[in-house]
Amino acid sequence: MNHASCPPITRVRLGRTGLEASILGLGCGGPSRIGQTAGRTEEESVALVRKALDSGINFFDTAETYGTEAILGRAFQGVPRESFIVCTKKSVQAKDQRVRPEDLAQAIDGSLARLRLGHIDIFYLHGVLLEDYDFTSQEILPAALRLREQGKFRFLGLTENFRTDTRHRMLERALQDDVWDVVMVGFNLLNPGARERVFPVTRRKNIGVVNMYAVRRVLGNPARVRETVAEIQRLGLLGASVDEADPLGFLVHAGGASSVVDAAYRLCRHEPGVHVVLSGTGDPTHLEANVKSILSAPLPEGDAARLRALFSRVDSISGN
Ligand SMILES: NC(=O)c1ccc[n+]([C@@H]2O[C@H](COP(=O)([O-])OP(=O)(O)OC[C@H]3O[C@@H](n4cnc5c(N)ncnc54)[C@H](OP(=O)(O)O)[C@@H]3O)[C@@H](O)[C@H]2O)c1
Repeated sequence: MNHASCPPITRVRLGRTGLEASILGLGCGGPSRIGQTAGRTEEESVALVRKALDSGINFFDTAETYGTEAILGRAFQGVPRESFIVCTKKSVQAKDQRVRPEDLAQAIDGSLARLRLGHIDIFYLHGVLLEDYDFTSQEILPAALRLREQGKFRFLGLTENFRTDTRHRMLERALQDDVWDVVMVGFNLLNPGARERVFPVTRRKNIGVVNMYAVRRVLGNPARVRETVAEIQRLGLLGASVDEADPLGFLVHAGGASSVVDAAYRLCRHEPGVHVVLSGTGDPTHLEANVKSILSAPLPEGDAARLRALFSRVDSISGN
């Protein structure tokens, strides 16, 4: 890989896993699915993954349901296995039906075949809801641990369904158990609730934290930002007055962020307790901009303080 033209992306120890992960990870799901949703070709998505590797990103997040595992598998051909970290996931519930413990082995073998790998670095149970947590920990977890013993994956993780579980109810319960090496958490400038509800525990227990929803569908779209902030105001959760026409415009200025998206990734990057920030993009220009954001300084303290004043009580919005 040629890293000569870019500054190196900082690496961070991912909690108790000991993995040395780049602070920016490529999310291969979300609205973009590395460009597949917008109709990019597989070749273009493979090239995007290679570009991420060239930029120093070593952390890649996919799932059985994203339809991007095989693209990663193609992109990793010829790349030394120890130079990248691959995470994939299995939902415990699909179309009102819970998976059976015995389905897990087949699912992991399918992921490994599509990824063309001998093992997965982090295997997550995907988008678990609070009402499915006891079933997950009592019935699915033992099966997952047996597969870990067989060497199918190295570390076990859990991801929340932030779109509906905006208060992190499932993770608050799950973090009482000491079995999860990594959790994937929704956190962004509009809903920073994980700062109080999740990160103090993950930090105490040295659990790896991967941040999703840094931008998602709202923060890159000025009209949706206006609508969402107006909704937060209607809910009585906005902590100060804003310019209704451009509620986050105060973040963009010389010495501050270059755009709201830049501010959104930088806020997450410098949040104590976050290890890896995922960026879900299929656009090479966006990837370059996001690498730059992740390598930038924290937001000016005045802007960060204003964000805290505005949004610290928000707990019912995901930014989706
Ligand atoms: N429960 C779960 O386990 C779960 C749920 C959701 C997501 N995830 C994971 O988390 C990853 C991150 O997902 P996310 O949706 O939260 O990602 P995100 O990075 O917060 O948002 C991605 C969206 O922002 C756009 N975008 C990215 N960079 C941009 C830029 N510089 N300027 C303007 N728009 C930009 C992307 O479109 P373009 O393609 O046009 O750049 C895409 O629509 C996913 O890919 C997935 O791997 C997991």
